Amino acid sequence: MSTPSSPSKAQPGQPSDDPLANKAQAWSALFSEPMSELVQRYTASVSFDQRLWQADIAGSLAHADMLAAQGIIAAQDLADIQRGLGQIRQEIESGQFKWQLALEDVHLNIEARLTALVGDAGKRLHTGRSRNDQVATDVRLWLRGEIDKLSALLAQMQAALVRLAADHTETVMPGFTHLQVAQPVSFAHHLLAYVEMFARDAERLADVRKRTNRLPLGAAALAGTSYPLDRERVARTLGFDGVCQNSLDAVSDRDFALEFSAFAAITMVHVSRLAEELVLWMSQNFGFIDLADRYCTGSSIMPQKRNPDVAELARGKSGRVVGHLMGLLTLMKGQPMTYNKDNQEDKEPLFDTVDTVADTLRIMAEMVGGIKVKAEAMEAAALKGYATATDLADYMTKKGLPFRDAHETVAHAVKLAIGQGLDLSQLPLETLQGLHPSITADVTQVLTLRGSLNARNVLGGTAPEQVRAQIKRHQARLASTGP
Ligand code: ARG
Repeated sequence: MSTPSSPSKAQPGQPSDDPLANKAQAWSALFSEPMSELVQRYTASVSFDQRLWQADIAGSLAHADMLAAQGIIAAQDLADIQRGLGQIRQEIESGQFKWQLALEDVHLNIEARLTALVGDAGKRLHTGRSRNDQVATDVRLWLRGEIDKLSALLAQMQAALVRLAADHTETVMPGFTHLQVAQPVSFAHHLLAYVEMFARDAERLADVRKRTNRLPLGAAALAGTSYPLDRERVARTLGFDGVCQNSLDAVSDRDFALEFSAFAAITMVHVSRLAEELVLWMSQNFGFIDLADRYCTGSSIMPQKRNPDVAELARGKSGRVVGHLMGLLTLMKGQPMTYNKDNQEDKEPLFDTVDTVADTLRIMAEMVGGIKVKAEAMEAAALKGYATATDLADYMTKKGLPFRDAHETVAHAVKLAIGQGLDLSQLPLETLQGLHPSITADVTQVLTLRGSLNARNVLGGTAPEQVRAQIKRHQARLASTGP
């Protein structure tokens, strides 16, 4: 492979054949001194934005195709550009492409190489275009692809939870408020709460995609361009749903990145809550589940330890994604119109957000698939905290007692039971009847965990019949929108 001429070879002030070949020394004849090594390193983004290369090449091909169709460049120029970009693609894919810090970013690196390969046609590619609309286009194109991958991963996450839920509609666990045992719930119902969260995340992501998928190219530096560009054609070629309608907004807007980061932060908050529960449930004090060994680590000092590191890291990594949202919001808040170099700082947080969310969803979905449920321990825990007290109050209310009076009577019953070290269902019928005569033998069923569960047979409730209906709904939904 022939490499681009090294920028360090050119002499200061010496006009170069290729103006991009020595950006470090001169952008144009206007510049009389070279950039220091520090400034070069400080302003360059190529070390990270080279990740946008596919989008950059796709954008350039679409732009060149349109320039030729509009008669702005010759058909031969288009052919040369296509050939050159094709070769650059191969060079990058095979790892032979020489990325140069002196050429600042992905855009200038590719353009310089193109010119080295095909000459003048390469220099014509940038007609009617600026890096300002180019970079905005590249980031949107790249993000659109990542959005599609993430929505598939969100579907996998939901599917893993639904699969586990399907096996546990009848598994009873204590439901908590304030982390105190509140009422018995089906374990499947608890898992489906997370499915609801991730389903909303998927909706949010689909919404972000709409506003990401609009084309900035054609805005040029900021004001539009004097060439007769056909922006709609470029949008169609690149699969954009539409064109940004204001050139100033097109080059400066990063709302799509903010919205995406907000989606990601909310998703990671959901992941983190689930991860926190897995950690709690696996602790000896709960003992509700076991996570597969491959997601746990040992301790270098305590031989008995199996630590749920993956879940803890998923919880911990939510911090960086939330942090990136704050970083991006802060990045944008002080920027006057239109493009400012500040915008170069949008990439690393965005890349890290995508990587973190993708890895986390993938690993959490896998880990959920390998959960071993300890149903007896869950049930035993549900029996501990007088979880059916509300059921007793409801029972008496249905027999005609005002709810507030029933609530008070049950408080007395719980007090008695605590004093005798018994569960409500273990109190003798006579004791209960002593508290209120409305209580009869049929109370026994009401005070069991399953009686309590089955009683909550309201839409959205925890009765296994309802939960089974919800599982069906999710299965159908995921099958139709599936990855
Ligand atoms: N690397 C730059 C970025 O990421 C590309 C746009 C530069 N435009 C400019 N006028 N300096 O934002």
